[in-house]
Amino acid sequence: MNIAATVWWQAGTIYQIYPRSFQDANGDGIGDLTGIIGRLPYLTRLGVDAIWLSPIFPSPMADFGYDISDYIGIDPIFGTSADFDALVAAAHGQRLKLILDLVPNHTSDQHPWFLESRGSRDNPKRDWYIWRDPKPDGSAPNNWMSEFGGSAWQFDDATGQYYYHAFLDKQPDLNWRNPEVRHAIYEVMRFWLRRGVDGFRVDVIWHLIKDGEFRDNPVNPNFNAGRPPHEAVLTLHSADQPEVQEVVAEMRRVVDEFDDRVLIGEVYLPVERLVAYYGKDLSGANLPFNFALLSAPWNAREIAALIDRYEQALPLGAWPNWVLGNHDRPRVASRVGAAQARVAAMLLLTLRGTPTLYYGDEIGMRQVAIPAERVQDPFEKNVPGIGVGRDGCRTPMQWGATDNAGFTSGEPWLPLADDFATDNAAAFASDPHSILSLYVKLIDLRKHTLELVFGDYVPLQTAGDVLAYLRVYDGRALLVALNFSSEAASMHVEGEGGEIALTTELDRRGENVSGVLELRGNEGVIVRLR
Ligand code: GLC
Repeated sequence: MNIAATVWWQAGTIYQIYPRSFQDANGDGIGDLTGIIGRLPYLTRLGVDAIWLSPIFPSPMADFGYDISDYIGIDPIFGTSADFDALVAAAHGQRLKLILDLVPNHTSDQHPWFLESRGSRDNPKRDWYIWRDPKPDGSAPNNWMSEFGGSAWQFDDATGQYYYHAFLDKQPDLNWRNPEVRHAIYEVMRFWLRRGVDGFRVDVIWHLIKDGEFRDNPVNPNFNAGRPPHEAVLTLHSADQPEVQEVVAEMRRVVDEFDDRVLIGEVYLPVERLVAYYGKDLSGANLPFNFALLSAPWNAREIAALIDRYEQALPLGAWPNWVLGNHDRPRVASRVGAAQARVAAMLLLTLRGTPTLYYGDEIGMRQVAIPAERVQDPFEKNVPGIGVGRDGCRTPMQWGATDNAGFTSGEPWLPLADDFATDNAAAFASDPHSILSLYVKLIDLRKHTLELVFGDYVPLQTAGDVLAYLRVYDGRALLVALNFSSEAASMHVEGEGGEIALTTELDRRGENVSGVLELRGNEGVIVRLR
C-alpha cells in the first residue's frame, strides 16, 4: 500500500489554527487570513497535511467567532472574501487541505434569522429557534443550565417567551427539529464545499437535538462546588438525544456530495457514547473527535487503559483519532510538564488514528496566566476564579524573539507568554534537539511508515510507569516505549530486538536493542523490530 494514495484524513495529520492568535498581517493585534497565508510554509515544513480554522465568519465576537451573524461571509477582522479564496488557493498549492469550523447549534443573537425570530410570535422564523412559555410562576421552562453559567433560558420581554441557549444568551440555539433550519445549514455547507474547502469540524454536534418534551435534567449527585455551575445538572435531556444521529448522517450525505471531503464532530462524551457518532454502518461523522487524552491522569496505566477502552469501543471499520489540545482546554505542556510534553507528542503521533495538533503545542507553548484586567473569555467572565478561563491556551503564536514574538506589529489582543524570547519557532527550528524538531521527525516518520498509519495496535505488558505497544503491519513491527516517569526504567524486548528509529531526545538513532530496552526518565523510544 502506498500511504500517499490513501484517504488523506486517515493518513494525514491535522493542525488546528486559532486564527485570532496565529499571525497578524495588518497590525491590529488580531491574527488574520493573510497572516495565515504567510505562515503556510512553516506548516509544510512541520509536515502537517490539513489545517482546521476556528471560525472566521462575521461575528459580534461575544464567544470569539462561535457566535456567527453571517454563515457565508468573512469577518473583516480576519480579512475579505478574496483573502479567503487566496488562502484556499495557497493552501491547496502547498498540498494542505483546509477544514472550516461549522457552528450549527446556535447563531449570534445578531444573526438576521434570530432578529426575525424574536420579532413576533407569528414570524415565519419563530420556530427556527427554541421558544417556550414561562412556567405559571413566570420562571424558566425547565432546569437546563448554560455551559457558561446560569439558566439556559433567556426571557424576551417583547414576546413574553423564553429562548434556549446552551452557551451565552447571545448564542441562541437553532431548532434542529425544524426541516427549514436543516436545509439552511446544509446550504451553508454546500456553499463552502463549492468554494473548495475540504471539510468541516462541527461545533458541539452532540448538542443539536434536545428532548422533545423539555423534561428537567437530573441533578448531578457528584457535583462539587469547585466545578463550573452547569455541572450541577446532568445533560440527559438537553444533549446526545438519539435523533441527533439522523442529523449527523444528513450532514455526512451533504459532505459526500463532494469528492474527498471530511466530516469531523466535536463530541465530549464517554467513549461508549462517543462512538455512536460514527453512525449506523459508519454513515455519520468520519472522525468524532476523541478527547480522552485531554482529561486523562498522566500515567502509563491510565493511558493504557483508555487506549484499550477506545480501541474496544470502536465500531468495525471506524477510523480512530486522537487530540492532545484545543482552544478550550489547558495547554498540554502545562498539564503534563515540558519533559512529558515530548512523550505526549510521541504518543499522539504513534497511536492508531488521525492525530490533531493544536497550534503552538509543537513548540511546547504553555498555558499563560492572564491578569484579571486582560481577561477576554466570556466563560471566565461569567464564572470567574475557578480556572475555567480559556484565554491562557489562546495566546499569540511565538514565532521569534522579536517584538511581540513576530505575531503582530500592534498591541496583541491577549498577552504573550513571557518565555517567547527563548521558546519560539525560529529558535527551535534551528535547534536539532528542540521539541519542534521532535514534532517534525515524528510527523515525517509517520508519513513514511505504513506500520504507524495502518498497523494494528498491540499493547505490551510492562512494569512501572512505562507504556509500550507495537504497531504491526504486514509482518513488520515498530515498538513504542514511553516512560511517563522522571526515573529511568527498562523493559524486556522479546525476539530478535531491533534498532532505534527515534527518541524523544532525538539521539540514540541506530542504536541496537536486544533483550532489554533502557529508557531514561521522561524518555520515549521508537524501535524498528527485526
Ligand atoms: C465549542 C467551542 C467553544 C465554544 C462552544 C460554543 O465547544 O469549541 O470554543 O465556546 O462550542 O460554541
